[in-house]
Amino acid sequence: MNSATQNEAIHVVGLVGSLRRGSYNRLLMELAQRVAPEGMTIELFDLDDLPLYNGDIDNDNDRPQAAIALHRAVEQADALLFATPEYNHSVPAVLKNAIDWLSRPQRGGGTPPIWAKPTAIMGAATGMWGTIRAQKHLRSILAATNTPVVMKPDVLVRNVKSLVVEGRIDDESTEGFVHELLENLAELTWRHQREYNA
Ligand SMILES: Cc1cc2nc3c(=O)[nH]c(=O)nc-3n(C[C@H](O)[C@H](O)[C@H](O)COP(=O)(O)O)c2cc1C
Repeated sequence: MNSATQNEAIHVVGLVGSLRRGSYNRLLMELAQRVAPEGMTIELFDLDDLPLYNGDIDNDNDRPQAAIALHRAVEQADALLFATPEYNHSVPAVLKNAIDWLSRPQRGGGTPPIWAKPTAIMGAATGMWGTIRAQKHLRSILAATNTPVVMKPDVLVRNVKSLVVEGRIDDESTEGFVHELLENLAELTWRHQREYNA
């Protein structure tokens, strides 16, 4: 695990729960990259090639490269950031699948990388509810994996289509909320690192 202390750089892995090329949640992740606090970098990890979790292939001989790469990326990150759409009032299978892979140990045991990894959640929807139901479910899932999640602010981007200008989300209020979320993620990460390194 990396060891960020206050005012040191924080490396975040970003996971987007949509594989759609024109995904609004990907645009939201790109906005987060633009407004991240100084010293924070957000690396988007593409989930396109991650197969569905299958216990028969989750072993050192058969594990898919994409699952190994995801595991390593999160293991080496200081923190995680999710951008989730809402599918049928819940989390898209793409994200749930990634979390399932991240909740299992690899390479002969140890702690799964999502365990105790400081995490923040945001989401964008074309509708009125801004992914609130998906985010509630995501928090429940992350309780199962012992993942500490930033509590505030809620970043619920409604009617996202209306905020897109020239291929990016262009909205001061959204930028402000995402920046505050990331500052709180940095705080949580520093606190977490201090406790682990004490
Ligand atoms: C299978 C499916 C189910 C959906 N269910 C919901 C829903 O329950 N609530 C909602 O607000 N939007 C729902 N939507 C609309 C998505 O939130 C919207 O398409 C959003 O833009 C998807 O995110 P993306 O742009 O990042 O791909 C659903 C879309 C799909 C494809």
